Amino acid sequence: MNIAIAGTGYVGLSLAVLFAQHHHVTAVDIIPEKVALINKRQSPIKDPEIESYLAHQSLNLEATLDAEAAYSNADCIVIATPTDYDEQQNVFDTSQVDSVVACVERVNPSATVVIKSTVPVGYTAQIATQYPNSHILFSPEFLREGHALYDNLHPTRIIVGVPLQSDQQASSGTDDRVQCFADLLAEGSLDTNTPVRIMHSSEAEAVKLFSNTCLALRVAFFNELDTYAEMRNLRPAEIIEGVGLDPRIGTHYNNPSFGYGGYCLPKDTKQLLANYKHVPQNLVAAIVDANTTRKDFIAQTIIDKAEAWSSDPANVGSATSSTDARPVIGMYRLTMKTGSDNFRSSSIQDVMDRLIEYGLSIIIYEPTIAGVYHGCKIVDSLELFKTRSDIIVANRWNSDLSDVRPKVFTRDLFQRD
Ligand SMILES: NC(=O)c1ccc[n+]([C@@H]2O[C@H](COP(=O)([O-])OP(=O)(O)OC[C@H]3O[C@@H](n4cnc5c(N)ncnc54)[C@H](O)[C@@H]3O)[C@@H](O)[C@H]2O)c1
Repeated sequence: MNIAIAGTGYVGLSLAVLFAQHHHVTAVDIIPEKVALINKRQSPIKDPEIESYLAHQSLNLEATLDAEAAYSNADCIVIATPTDYDEQQNVFDTSQVDSVVACVERVNPSATVVIKSTVPVGYTAQIATQYPNSHILFSPEFLREGHALYDNLHPTRIIVGVPLQSDQQASSGTDDRVQCFADLLAEGSLDTNTPVRIMHSSEAEAVKLFSNTCLALRVAFFNELDTYAEMRNLRPAEIIEGVGLDPRIGTHYNNPSFGYGGYCLPKDTKQLLANYKHVPQNLVAAIVDANTTRKDFIAQTIIDKAEAWSSDPANVGSATSSTDARPVIGMYRLTMKTGSDNFRSSSIQDVMDRLIEYGLSIIIYEPTIAGVYHGCKIVDSLELFKTRSDIIVANRWNSDLSDVRPKVFTRDLFQRD
């Protein structure tokens, strides 16, 4: 089978590698450097399984900038382009998905198109109406960044959504296309008996947004518990462990942080809230608001520490980089998760922006970038960073910081994501 994938990010590249074990895959992107790297069997993103599969497995995979040629020759085109949240329009920006669908419908209308990008509820049904002779499906993607291929090798579930009522599916031949795509995902995985669910595309879109909002709810809940414990001078780890011993709650995914972040949770919760227009709700709006409240609280706690530092006579004249009486705040990594190489929408950046606005002097240790970021100097050397910082802010603890532990501010209680 010939498969084309639009977009070689976390979703597109992991699926390209997964499918290329058994099929000919052409991965399309608009960034020449990414295409060149993939053709050299190097991963443009940090992901242990993708790196290893590209280097060592036999894969029938090529990458290209020529979208039209790739889509013309494909039986199935999978769309994995970005859908950033447009704060002005209050909806995902689906323009890149739209443009790929338009291109495919022009050059190869008989092909199956599967949208893997996260889209607003109702999007696939609406675009299928726009192209009445198309064969468009939606399949939500559940992978985690940093474990992108691993999660597709061990999928928790396979869901395919169809923008038709079930009685129309068999007569239109859609059943075969749906089964074919579900089989592709299962064939590439290392597991057997992965649950498969076929449903309406709007239901499948809702599965994706509700899943991420549920994860955000859990993060926000344990963060609010931590805020409470901090303000009331109680030990949050004791409370969280005590709460989690109820098997209905469990001891997983409960480690406090500066807020939920990364590419998906912030934007997907906002999109679900937008989809709730005219539908009664309290929780979804609260989940979105809770994250802002948490980041405000974290920033204020750091500001209070900075002020306390300044008024401590022991520190007079000892600020590390200047004669200023205020401490230098060191931001340790801008990434969201341990082992990640990107910091899209990471909560520590939002905390940093609040500290900058307050006027604190900030330096950053982030080995993936150099120079200046948001007006703050990046310090390449970890040793220099540790010496120059009076207070070190870390969303996630790292043993690199063991020798300066008293300087470190983190809410990472259990040292895991
Ligand atoms: N990152 C995740 O953890 C994750 C998980 C599940 C779902 N999703 C969803 O999947 C989609 C993609 O996410 P991602 O993290 O892989 O994005 P990404 O930003 O890592 O990668 C997207 C890629 O698409 C390319 N691109 C943009 N426009 C294009 C076009 N017209 N044709 C071809 N390539 C194009 C970009 O250059 C980029 O390489 C988003 O809708 C996201 O919400 C992401």
